[in-house]
Amino acid sequence: MTKITFIEFNGTERNIDVENGLSLMRAAVDNLVPGIDGDCGGACACATCHCYIEGPLAEKLPEIGETERELLEMAEGTTAASRLACQVTVSSDLEGLVVRTPQAQH
Ligand code: FES
Repeated sequence: MTKITFIEFNGTERNIDVENGLSLMRAAVDNLVPGIDGDCGGACACATCHCYIEGPLAEKLPEIGETERELLEMAEGTTAASRLACQVTVSSDLEGLVVRTPQAQH
């Protein structure tokens, strides 16, 4: 299990122990985190799992793939910290990761 903190745009914070191997999207949806819907089920085809990941742990994330980049270009409110939560697999390397959800998805 790895502790992940999800923070909504309004500051509401949830600390969730996530089973390693799950995606951040699956962890958010299973725990009813508002702002991450995961409409395509993690197929990298909808961008409803857009989130922001900052800080030193962001460097431990996998590179953004071409499909993820294309989807992010179409998502609302993207920044340099934008990722698709379905493309990030939780591992113990990400202990303490902070994931923010965009206002546009609330
Ligand atoms: Fe659809 Fe991530 S769940 S792109």
